[in-house]
Amino acid sequence: MKVIGINGSPHAEGNTYHGLATIKKELEANGIEMEILHIGNKAIRGCIACNQCMKNGDQKCVLPDDGVNAAIEKMVAAEGIVLASPVYYANIAGTMKCFLDRVFYAAGRGLRGKVGTSIAAVRRTGGMPTVNGMNAFIDYCEMMKPTGNYWNVIHGTKPGDVLQDAEGMQTMEVLGRNMAYLLKQRAVESDVKMADPVRKTYTNFIR
Ligand SMILES: Cc1cc2nc3c(=O)[nH]c(=O)nc-3n(C[C@H](O)[C@H](O)[C@H](O)COP(=O)(O)O)c2cc1C
Repeated sequence: MKVIGINGSPHAEGNTYHGLATIKKELEANGIEMEILHIGNKAIRGCIACNQCMKNGDQKCVLPDDGVNAAIEKMVAAEGIVLASPVYYANIAGTMKCFLDRVFYAAGRGLRGKVGTSIAAVRRTGGMPTVNGMNAFIDYCEMMKPTGNYWNVIHGTKPGDVLQDAEGMQTMEVLGRNMAYLLKQRAVESDVKMADPVRKTYTNFIR
């Protein structure tokens, strides 16, 4: 079983990373592998709404290669996903938002039913809008969310500060353990299966 963590911070080993690393430690203690992909330092442009990915149906973005398609392949192959972003202006950091729009538009269907969660690193304010913004991607493609014992926000300014946020770090540990539980539970052979996907009712409130 494998989990892919997405580090949406420009810092390779900043506060966002430490949140992911804490979850990784708990997963690994439960025999589950986790790979952290650092995308927050890449030149990833936003979705241009060309809809070519929909037409091609190949779970690939047609924009010139910038690492998004390689990440899609890993995410689709994994059993679990952790989305992680620093808070920028009370929301998802820009590069991470560009990444998520393109990954989920092109390949959201391939992520259905996986175990997924989101975490945010923040100095002071904007943690929950950021977590909720990332959970919007997880909800849209029918992933199953584990919880921590508080909301998934860790506090710090300079890289590494979050290690002093005892409550935040504990939340990450509990989240990692609950994620391991859900992954293991879903891996058990069972007659209980997820219902087939429905054909989406798609309206724009006019017709
Ligand atoms: C452009 C920018 C915008 C930020 N906006 C906020 C904000 O709205 N609220 C806040 O509390 N911290 C804000 N911060 C601080 C970061 O969220 C905080 O330092 C975080 O821990 C960085 O995580 P990292 O080390 O993983 O990059 C901002 C930082 C930057 C660079």
